[in-house]
Amino acid sequence: MNLQFNLNGKPWSVDCEPADTLAEVLRNQLNLNGTKVSCEVQVCGACTYLAYEARGKNILTVEGLEKADGTLHPIQQAFIDDFAFQCGFCTPGMIMAAKSLLDENPNPTRDEIIHHMDGNICRCTGYVPIVAAIQRAAEVMAQESQK
Ligand code: FES
Repeated sequence: MNLQFNLNGKPWSVDCEPADTLAEVLRNQLNLNGTKVSCEVQVCGACTYLAYEARGKNILTVEGLEKADGTLHPIQQAFIDDFAFQCGFCTPGMIMAAKSLLDENPNPTRDEIIHHMDGNICRCTGYVPIVAAIQRAAEVMAQESQK
């Protein structure tokens, strides 16, 4: 089947099988490897979104956060500045979940951050620097919005 959607702000057309997951299409056909597949038994959820469900929608991946001039998104920069990753496997998902939170709630409390992020698992860094990075990003984004 042919699938058309907007990906990171640009229109895309890709041929895929009806049972392909969006993660498979992003990773295997479009080489956007920031999207991770973890358990593959429908616990983490990455394999539960079929590619055809993206038809006509706007899809944003971690690769789409960077500005055209190469400047990282404040959340990406905050994860670097706060050393909020080690192996990096969870980092794209953490960053996108954090973006979802800050889009809805630009000034979350620590408890709100923890509650929002509780579906994202990190096996190596621990959550203290991740929460700190999200708090830092919220501050930077608030400052940038006042410019
Ligand atoms: S940095 Fe390795 S799983 Fe989170």
